[in-house]
Amino acid sequence: MIQKTLVLIKPDGVQRGLIGEIIKRLEQRGLKIIAMKMVQADRILAEKHYTESITEKHGEKARISLIDYIMYGPVIAMVVQGSSAITLVRKIVGATFPGDADIGTIRGDFTHMSKARTRQINKGYNLVHASENEEDSKKEIGLWFSDKEIHDYKLSAEDYLLG
Ligand code: CDP
Ligand code: MG
Repeated sequence: MIQKTLVLIKPDGVQRGLIGEIIKRLEQRGLKIIAMKMVQADRILAEKHYTESITEKHGEKARISLIDYIMYGPVIAMVVQGSSAITLVRKIVGATFPGDADIGTIRGDFTHMSKARTRQINKGYNLVHASENEEDSKKEIGLWFSDKEIHDYKLSAEDYLLG
């Protein structure tokens, strides 16, 4: 099934000069970038992006620090499309805590902060956000992009890559 997913290169990814590296990994897998921009998130956007589901998962302290972290500097926001793109992008990104992320994933290749350290400093520096499921991707794409900013075009290699 062709899916769309929201990908953010978080402020640590932008500030470490990894924009190109991260985009390259999505493109080389054959995924199609159908929207992209640099955004300085304000608190309203950050709070809508990281909702109570984060509190349920990791606690309110993690959510508060995550909201500050996503606002710390500009991010690159993208909508990425492809066959099972939601799962595929999360595979390319790797596990939440970079110390657990497989080598070959973005988090596994460019950082390695442990879960323990993340908890200690209460900052999950892990370079990328990627939507977790269909419901989240719809909500998140709507938060970061207007319909006009999302484009429809054909990749020249699409017939060989997608499906
Ligand atoms: O990003 P991902 O979907 O893999 O993980 P998540 O469970 O949705 O958590 C969102 C983000 O919260 C993570 O990417 C980490 O940056 C951050 N986090 C944190 O700062 N402290 C934690 N204890 C857990 C997550
Ligand atoms: Mg998540």
